[in-house]
Amino acid sequence: MTCSFDRLAGDADLEGVLEVEHESFTNPWTRDMYAWELQNKNVCHIYVVRTPDCRVAGFCSFWLVFDEIHINNVAVRPQFRQRGIGTALLGHVLTEARTLGARRATLEVRASNEGARRLYERLGFYVAGTRRNYYSNPVEDALILWRDAEALEPPGAVC
Ligand SMILES: CC(C)(COP(=O)(O)OP(=O)(O)OC[C@H]1O[C@@H](n2cnc3c(N)ncnc32)[C@H](O)[C@@H]1OP(=O)(O)O)[C@@H](O)C(=O)NCCC(=O)NCCS
Repeated sequence: MTCSFDRLAGDADLEGVLEVEHESFTNPWTRDMYAWELQNKNVCHIYVVRTPDCRVAGFCSFWLVFDEIHINNVAVRPQFRQRGIGTALLGHVLTEARTLGARRATLEVRASNEGARRLYERLGFYVAGTRRNYYSNPVEDALILWRDAEALEPPGAVC
């Protein structure tokens, strides 16, 4: 599938992200939460993925904290899943993060979210710990995943 990636820009993109949130999560982030995030564009980065017929087919948001990125949310609209878009989106985000100086990436994932876990593992993330009962609706443990410098560097690069 042909797709492109942009940093979130403007209300139409934000509307699209809020729709994807509602289609994807039992506890979606709200407009107010995003408004707060978007006040600090040096820290909070949000990328949307576009297809020829969909302005926002998915998105990924992360914080850049020193030389780490903390991936907060990643989601693809249900009708666009299983086509490689999530993999391409995360690949783009990790490349952008490298450009911004990041050397490591981390995120949390529901223990039962096997599809997302497979995706992260394919991209070089590994389980580094557990946060007990971290999620609500339903209550569930979070796995803490990390991806290290070597994995964030392009092949052959010196860290
Ligand atoms: C997790 C998520 C972002 C993955 O997005 P996606 O676009 O479906 O991801 P991909 O298509 O790149 O990969 C998913 C699967 O599709 C497969 N796939 C990729 N391209 C494919 C294609 N052309 N045809 C068929 N399958 C394909 C991949 O091999 C992968 O299979 P597997 O997970 O069974 O091993 C998406 O499922 C989602 O939004 N889930 C709800 C929100 C969520 O849980 N987010 C993560 C929170 S931590």
